[in-house]
Amino acid sequence: MSDGTRLSRPWWEPGVIYQVYPRSFQDSDGDGIGDLAGIAARLDYLSDLGIDAIWLSPIFPSPMADFGYDVADYCGIAPIFGDMAAFDALLAQVHARGMKLLLDFVPNHTSDQHPWFVESRSSRDNPKRDWYIWRDPAPGGGPPNNWTSDMGGSSWEFDPATGQYYLHAFLREQPDLNWRNPALREAMMDVLRFWFDRGVDGFRIDVLWHCVKARDFPDNPPNPDYRPGMGEKLAVLQTHSTDQPEIHDVAHAMRALADGYGERVLVGELYLPTETLVRYYGSEDAPGCHLPFNFQLIETPWDARAIARLIEAYEAALPPGGWPNWVLSNHDRPRIAARLGEAQARIAAMLLLTLRGTPTLYQGDELGIGQVAIPPDRVRDPQDLRQPGLGLGRDAFRTPMPWDGTAHAGFSSAEPWLPLNPDWPDRNVARQAADPGSILELYRRLLALRRQRASLSVGDIAVIEADEDVLQYVRRHDGERLLVALNLSSKARRLLVPAGMQLGEVLASTLPSEHSRNILAPDEGVIIRIEGE
Ligand code: NOJ
Ligand code: MG
Repeated sequence: MSDGTRLSRPWWEPGVIYQVYPRSFQDSDGDGIGDLAGIAARLDYLSDLGIDAIWLSPIFPSPMADFGYDVADYCGIAPIFGDMAAFDALLAQVHARGMKLLLDFVPNHTSDQHPWFVESRSSRDNPKRDWYIWRDPAPGGGPPNNWTSDMGGSSWEFDPATGQYYLHAFLREQPDLNWRNPALREAMMDVLRFWFDRGVDGFRIDVLWHCVKARDFPDNPPNPDYRPGMGEKLAVLQTHSTDQPEIHDVAHAMRALADGYGERVLVGELYLPTETLVRYYGSEDAPGCHLPFNFQLIETPWDARAIARLIEAYEAALPPGGWPNWVLSNHDRPRIAARLGEAQARIAAMLLLTLRGTPTLYQGDELGIGQVAIPPDRVRDPQDLRQPGLGLGRDAFRTPMPWDGTAHAGFSSAEPWLPLNPDWPDRNVARQAADPGSILELYRRLLALRRQRASLSVGDIAVIEADEDVLQYVRRHDGERLLVALNLSSKARRLLVPAGMQLGEVLASTLPSEHSRNILAPDEGVIIRIEGE
């Protein structure tokens, strides 16, 4: 069935997802840390912005060794964020505004304080021993194999009480679960049921490709490109510790459960190359994630030809029925404006909101927050604290939302847990909302246009031309055709209009100035209607 005749599509296909990092969105109780009541108080901002779904990074009880990605109870709410009543109220208010709410499901590991792990480590014959991954020391002593943790050092931690090592792909406070154990699997499916029953609209699934490891735990091959100073994660290739064939059964089991609840979406976090990434859509008989996160734009150089090739390769690799998606940053990756500068961050906004597929926006990028220097005494990220000096810190991408020009930018009545962006007195929501030329207003206009024009939200895409600076593609749906032309450079460039193409109305520009026909001003991106059939 062609796109034009398809009767209905699930909400996430034309939809836009917005990631909220709860610690840094809005504080309501003056502890300097964002919380659920704070998010609820800012929902009008999100609905006015024009997004469809909110994904919340973890809000569950946690010792916060990795700021919530170390879960101690999958079915509760961390007191610093609120309680179950605050959650239910938030969910109801999100739904009342016609938006959706996604939670963060962290299936690869728990906190070492989770009661399951407390039991598991208590003795070798505890019934939950096999819910985690325990191994004897290597024959001569030492860790069972050479796997390295993403946070530095060995992936194995020795537990003297029982004389074995447990596996942790991340911090030692984040022991990995054993997805080969049927009882563990069922317990995790119950977690999904718990939240679906409460009404959540889906999940972002943390490090999905890590969940299953090679059965006999062989050494990983050394990484030929590794140089000291890169972080020990990169010392070996994660050949045997990630992306095993059996992961697809796990993804399918989650999907089957989600589908039983109607239109609920599963978004998989997967840092994988395109060919392996798209396998996470699963097959027609055994579907996997609806949206395996596509992070390729984060990894690709900001070069029009490279991006054109990426779009074409990704589109070509999608399985039948597989719906695309695009991401440009998140709480783990540098800010778009820090990477590209504000002028090109505006082009990035137009790119992300005009490609075919569901975009995921990250809070604060709509304000163009750029570099933030974190003074040494304010560093909080364990990835930085455990591997100091390597530049691996993520705090700079997690700074609080600057809402207005009042004390602490309206984020909190107290000093926030991380510093604000230094330019917050100018770069804040209130200032930008009052300035039609701001990047925030550009995001708002692009989101509105995307909502009005089916060619942008669900139309097909054809890359028509690219040189190193100019990227152009056509979006088309039901007789409407739009040209998107993006100048990735700070020089004026010609529009590369194919012979016979008649251009009409300019529907949007990244610049406040008027678009002059056939010329792209420096850092200009435009969306122009194509006349005729
Ligand atoms: C991916 C999350 O996005 C990141 O913040 C976290 O540190 C790791 N998974 C471990 O859960
Ligand atoms: Mg608070």
